[in-house]
Amino acid sequence: MTEPKRILVTSALPYANGPIHLGHLAGAYLPADVFCRYHRMLGSDLVYICGSDEHGAAIVKQSIAEGVDPQSIVDKYHALAMKDFAAFGMSFDHYGRTSSEAHRKTASEFFRTMAQKGAFTTKTEQLPYDPKVELFLADRFVMGTCPICGNESAYGDQCEKCGTALSPRELIDPRSTMSDAELVWKETTHFYLPMGEHQARLEAWIAEKTDWKVNVLGQIKSWFTLGLGERAMTRDLPWGVPIPEDVAAAAGVNAEGKVLYVWFDAPIGYVSSTREWAEQLGDPERWKTYWQREDTRLIHYIGKDNIVFHTLSFPLMLMLHGDYVLPENVPANEFLNLEGQKLSTSRGWAVWLGEALEAFPADYLRYSLLRTLPETRDADFTWADFSAHVNNELADNFGNFANRTIQFATKYLGGTVPELVDPSDADRAALEEMATFPARIGALIDQHRMRDAVQELMALGRLGNKYFNDGEPWATRSKDPQRCNNTVHVSLQICGALSVLAEPFIPFTAAKLRAILGVEGVRPSTPGGQGELGWADAARPLLTSGSALGTPEILVSKVDEAAIEAQLELLRTRSAAAAASTAEAPYAPVRDTITYDDFAKLDFRVGHVTSAERVKKSKKLIRCEVDLGFETRQILAGVAEHFTPEDLLGKRVIVVANLAPRKMVGLESQGMLLMAEDRGGALHMLTADSEPGSTVS
Ligand code: 2FM
Ligand code: ZN
Repeated sequence: MTEPKRILVTSALPYANGPIHLGHLAGAYLPADVFCRYHRMLGSDLVYICGSDEHGAAIVKQSIAEGVDPQSIVDKYHALAMKDFAAFGMSFDHYGRTSSEAHRKTASEFFRTMAQKGAFTTKTEQLPYDPKVELFLADRFVMGTCPICGNESAYGDQCEKCGTALSPRELIDPRSTMSDAELVWKETTHFYLPMGEHQARLEAWIAEKTDWKVNVLGQIKSWFTLGLGERAMTRDLPWGVPIPEDVAAAAGVNAEGKVLYVWFDAPIGYVSSTREWAEQLGDPERWKTYWQREDTRLIHYIGKDNIVFHTLSFPLMLMLHGDYVLPENVPANEFLNLEGQKLSTSRGWAVWLGEALEAFPADYLRYSLLRTLPETRDADFTWADFSAHVNNELADNFGNFANRTIQFATKYLGGTVPELVDPSDADRAALEEMATFPARIGALIDQHRMRDAVQELMALGRLGNKYFNDGEPWATRSKDPQRCNNTVHVSLQICGALSVLAEPFIPFTAAKLRAILGVEGVRPSTPGGQGELGWADAARPLLTSGSALGTPEILVSKVDEAAIEAQLELLRTRSAAAAASTAEAPYAPVRDTITYDDFAKLDFRVGHVTSAERVKKSKKLIRCEVDLGFETRQILAGVAEHFTPEDLLGKRVIVVANLAPRKMVGLESQGMLLMAEDRGGALHMLTADSEPGSTVS
C-alpha cells in the first residue's frame, strides 16, 4: 500500500455540449473516482478536480445551429453534468467551469507568463474563412471532396473514408460545415507553440515513465516518430478566453477576435478549478501546495483521444511556464463500445447517464462498468453483461453473502454479533485471509487496474460464501452452538471488511451495509470527512461481539429481463430516430457520367478478410489482409470509427483490386474495400457469398 502523500487527481473536463454517457464514465471518471475514494480512506492528502470544458469551435457550431448563444448551451450541460455526476457518486473536491471569470484570468496569466518567457512564435497565414457566418474555420469544420477517393464528405483534416490525412487546401470544392458556404481564404496571425523544438526534452522526460500504461506509451512513441512540429495556440473565434492584449501588442498582433485555443485553455481549467476550490475553502493560496510543490503526485485520468494533450502539449506548457509540477502518470483508458458498435451520440448509439440512473441504482452501473473498463483495449458494454454482472456477481456473491449472514444472525442469534471463542483452524484461516485483502485491492488500485481490483473485492465475497457454506451454521446451530456462533462471528467480520473495501467501488451499497452492521467511524471516501478507521483497518475484525445488528435489508436486488429489454428498446428507438432525422438529409449528388469503358476499367473482386487489426497511429484505419484467391493483399480501410477489426474478420468483402497502391501512415494499401454510406454517414459493409477472387460486375 502506498504511504499517504499529497496527490492531485484530475479527470478530463467534459465538453459542456451534451449529456454525460457511459463511454465518458468508463474512460476518465469512474476509475479516477475509485482511486480518489480509496486514497481518502487510506488517509492520503488528496484533491480531486474536474469541471466543464466550455470553449471550442464545436460549441460555437452548435450555438449557430441552434440559434442560441454559447453561454446558454454550456450553462445547460454544465448543470446537467453536475447533477448526473453527483447521482452517480462522483466524489470531486471541486467541479469548475472554463467560462468562469476566474478561469479566464488564470488561463490569460498562464499564456502571458509563457509568452514573456519566449515560448511562442507568431505566424501570419491564409486560413479558411466562412464569409456567411463570418468565422475562421478549424480544419475539422471544412468539408469537401477527397482528392484521393472522391468522398464528398471528407473533412479538412482527414478523409474518414480512405483515412488520408488532408489539409483544407487539398479538398476539392471546400465548404464550411458551419453554414455550407463556399470557403474563402483570409489572412490572419496566430501564436504557435513550436513543440518540435522541445521534442528532445519531452522524450527525456517520457523515458523516465517506465510504469506508464503500454497503450499510453505506444501512442506517445508514434507522436515522437511523426515529429512534434508546431501547434497554433490561438484561434479567431467569438467564444473562448480572449488573448491578453498586452501580449498581443508586444508581438505586434491585433488581439481583436482572438481567443486561446481550447486545448490550451482547457487543461489550465484543472488549475483554475483547484484555485476555486481553495478559495471556497477560505485558504486561497492552498492550490499552490498541490500544483507547485514538487512532492505532489499529479495524476490525469483521461480517455485515449486525449493522450497527446496530457502527455505532451500540457506537460510542455507546464515545463515552459516553469512554476508547476508535471504529471506523475496519465492512466488513459481506451474506448468503450456499446452492444458491439462504436458509441456515437449523433447516431443515437449511446447510453445517457441520467436515463440509466432512472432505471438502475448507481452502484449497479458502477459495478458493471468497472467489470468492463477498457483498461488495455477497447471493451464492449452490453446490457446482457450488465444483467449478468449485477445478478450473478453483485447479487449472488456480495449481496447474498451479506444477506444470508445477517439474516442468520438476526433469526437465530438475537440480532447481535456472537462471540468468537476458541476459534478453529478454519476460523483463523478465514480471518487471516481476510486480512490480506486491503493490501491486495489497494495495490491494484494504485496500479490503475480497477477491473482487477473490483474482482478482488468479489474474491473476498467468495471467501465469505465458501467459509459460511463449509461451516454449515444451520447444522451446527443445534449440534454445536459455539461452532455456529464462531462461524457467524467470522462471517460477520468478513461482511465488515467488505463494507469498508467496497466503498470506492459501490459506495452507496457499502454505506448501507455498514449501517446494518453498525460499523462506524470509517474515514469517508468523499471530500472533507474524518474517521478513526481507515482502509488498512479492514484487515482486522471491525465488529464488536455483543453489538446489535440493524434491520436486515436486501442490498442488491436482481435486475429483471424486462428492465434490460427496455434499455435495448430505448437504444433501438433512439438510433432509429437519429437515422430518420438523417433520412431527411440530402442524398449525395450523382457524380459526372462516365462511359462504359471507364467503368470496365474497374476490377472488383471478392476477398476474404483473413486478418484485421487497428493501425496504431490512426483513429480511422484498420489494416486488413485480404485473400483474393490468387494473392493476399494488405488493405488499409478507413472504417475504424464504424467497425471493429472483429467485425471485418472472416467477411467476404468487395475489393477494388486494380487501384494503384498508395501509402498511408507509412503502410502501403493495395486496394480498397467497398462500403455503402447512408445519408447519416453510417457505413454498411458490402459482402458477397462467393469464393475469393470472384469477379464482380
Ligand atoms: O475530450 C474532451 O472531452 C475534452 N473536453 C477534454 C478536455 S481535458 C482537459 F484538458 F481539460
Ligand atoms: Zn478519401
